[in-house]
Amino acid sequence: MLQEISALTDPLLYSHGDPHAVWRRLRQESPVSWHEYGEHGGYWAVTTHAEGLEVLTDWERFTSTKGIFLRPNFRDPYPGAGKMMALSDPPRHDQLRRAIMGLFTVRAIAVMEERTRDVVRSALRGVVEAGRCDFVKDIAARIPLAVSAELLSISMDDVEMLAKVTTEAAENSTDLGGVEAQLAHFEILRHYSEIIEEKRRNPGRDLVSALTRAQAEGLDITDDEVILTCDNVIVAANETTRQAVGAGMLALLESPEQWRALRAGELRLKTAAEEFLRWTAPVTHILRTAQRDTELNGVRIREGDAVTVWLPSLNRDEKVFDQPDSFLLDRKSNHHVAFGGGGHFCIGANLARLTIRVMLEELAQLPADIEVCGEPRRIASYILGGLTSLPLEFRPH
Ligand code: HEM
Repeated sequence: MLQEISALTDPLLYSHGDPHAVWRRLRQESPVSWHEYGEHGGYWAVTTHAEGLEVLTDWERFTSTKGIFLRPNFRDPYPGAGKMMALSDPPRHDQLRRAIMGLFTVRAIAVMEERTRDVVRSALRGVVEAGRCDFVKDIAARIPLAVSAELLSISMDDVEMLAKVTTEAAENSTDLGGVEAQLAHFEILRHYSEIIEEKRRNPGRDLVSALTRAQAEGLDITDDEVILTCDNVIVAANETTRQAVGAGMLALLESPEQWRALRAGELRLKTAAEEFLRWTAPVTHILRTAQRDTELNGVRIREGDAVTVWLPSLNRDEKVFDQPDSFLLDRKSNHHVAFGGGGHFCIGANLARLTIRVMLEELAQLPADIEVCGEPRRIASYILGGLTSLPLEFRPH
């Protein structure tokens, strides 16, 4: 049965194919299915909501310490494994998360609303004046970094450069591990290694300061790990939010009734933002590794097996969502998993939600008609879903 199904790790499935058709079939026929992968054996793919959350919420059975994304060489030791926040389990994970959590609470993020609105407004104003834009490059790629610059210890001078290198990395690489991606990381690492001493001397309310403070108070973290943590957070923040905004915009323009309702002020924007997240689910899969022999939906999993959870599939699970294949900005019950689940639930969720909500609010009031004026291009990647290009025309009214 599964032989006919395109490989979930084929990047072309995401740029030119219909991954939702593949996931739908897997949900119906085999929610926990085995897939061959490279020379390293294979992996389990979990495509249903309940089973996916079972994996994500049980680190004692499914560890993050062997890596969180499939890579061709995913059996080789992962740099930072067991040490970095995203790649650790409790108790280490709790310690690292506690060190930076204060920066991401609802209250801490609420303070950023005005700045977010300024960033979104000025980006939109620029493209309305120009009449045309590539929404992904000119808007979606710029906003997340500009919004979170201070939090991520980036000066406004560096925002432009870092936005450019991370965009190039996302565009030119099918697996986010290619040469451009490496160069982008190199730039980001260089940036953080330059500012770490300065933040130690003059701490502020930002990531590097929080980590170096925790280090001074006894947290076991080296300077290199501080720098790598910042690299992880900047990528986690930037590329995902960009895709939720970009791919969500396309869905909006393809649903004239939703677009009309938004502009008429008929929608609750917080609710609409959640549907953007359910629909776009920019993180395509998350990897865990079984720490012992176990069972999942009646399937035997062996210690050491790779277990992947496909978030966009969970977000369309017919057992959980009414009309899962419809984009409904007033969806009442929306238990989407775009931010994952369990202990590693996205720490930046409040900021991502704020960014999308403010974007929706500003779009709703924009004194212009917007139309797609070229072929949108999708990313060829089984890690990050979304668009590399969305040409739009703006006609002021
Ligand atoms: C729409 C935007 C976003 C999406 C869809 C998203 C998605 C996710 C997902 C699925 C995870 C779980 C990974 C796992 O279980 O292994 C995660 C974790 C994480 N996210 Fe986000 N994210 C977004 C925005 C952000 C932002 C804005 C930031 C920071 C400013 C951020 C920082 C992080 C960090 C640091 C982690 C690791 C947390 C941990 O290991 O405890 N993310 N994100």
